[in-house]
Amino acid sequence: MLIHRPALTRFLIERQRAGLINADLRLLIETCARACKAISVQVHKGALANVLGSAGTHNVQNEEQKKLDVISNEILLEANEWGGNLAALASEEMEKPAQIPLPHPKGEYLLLFDPLDGSSNIDVNISVGTIFSVLRCPKGLDEPGESAFLQPGRTQVAAGFAVYGPSTLLVLTVGDGTHGFTLDPYMGSFVLTHPGIRIPEDTAEFAINVSNMRRWESPVKRYIEECLAGKDGLRGKDFNMRWVASMVADVFRVLSRGGIFMYPRDARYKDGRLRLMYEANPMAFIVEQAGGAATDGHIPILDVQPASLHQRVAVILGSKNEVERVTSYHLGSE
Ligand code: AHG
Ligand code: MN
Ligand code: MN
Repeated sequence: MLIHRPALTRFLIERQRAGLINADLRLLIETCARACKAISVQVHKGALANVLGSAGTHNVQNEEQKKLDVISNEILLEANEWGGNLAALASEEMEKPAQIPLPHPKGEYLLLFDPLDGSSNIDVNISVGTIFSVLRCPKGLDEPGESAFLQPGRTQVAAGFAVYGPSTLLVLTVGDGTHGFTLDPYMGSFVLTHPGIRIPEDTAEFAINVSNMRRWESPVKRYIEECLAGKDGLRGKDFNMRWVASMVADVFRVLSRGGIFMYPRDARYKDGRLRLMYEANPMAFIVEQAGGAATDGHIPILDVQPASLHQRVAVILGSKNEVERVTSYHLGSE
């Protein structure tokens, strides 16, 4: 018997008919999905396409750019500049927002992306991905600059991420839950395989880079020490640990079976390591829409007022009850 699963196009048309998104936002999401397919092709070709290794350049945050960081950025820019639905674009890999080149018309949305997340994993054949976030452009701006983008994550109208792993996945929210699609490589379309994802409220699995332990702030140290004490400690149960070092893969695991993912502030990264606009905000929207929570230790990520485009933030997200526990350790309210 044929299993009927809607493709992304139908999923989006239905949301448009329900009044959740307009035609421009639908096209924008489809375009991002198409760009992710193109990036997926390059990632999966790997060494055959000579796309591995360093590009020999550095981004605005002085991080070494991999060839695939640059290629993915170009794919997303090219795919999105002519559709008429965007006012400007911002990327982890570009110092300033990109404007829509003439003769293309401008639209009402702003797109932000981390073109390739987990780039340290590319050369060792571990899953990487793409993260994107969509905001409305404030009215009356001819050439939207950085300040147009500085809106709290709560104002996002859509967010998504792709994982280029054993299969290519796309996870998406437009504010009515979190839904996952798998790329059918033969049909070339994303098919709804994970509708209405819900993150279990409790978990016995954490994800954090433990090599930074000596640098963490004390509430995080306390939480992890309690997890590590397992059955014999205050928590009374054993915990498992996973750390892929690609946020897309770690967050997809949390969406699939629960867990808590943390990249806290530490002595080296005083504001945290992950980027608010390209990583934390879209992931927080997706996680909240799946019934999970995402905070910087004190307030929900989605309520953080951004001060600059490339700002970093501490991230604690995943199963609600565990995120609340870590937050209470920060606030001293447990
Ligand atoms: P990017 O490749 O876009 O710079 O992001 C990498 C991020 C994130 O995906 C991951 O969770 C984290 O960096 C891993 O950091 P460590 O190498 O410090 O563990
Ligand atoms: Mn990233
Ligand atoms: Mn990146």
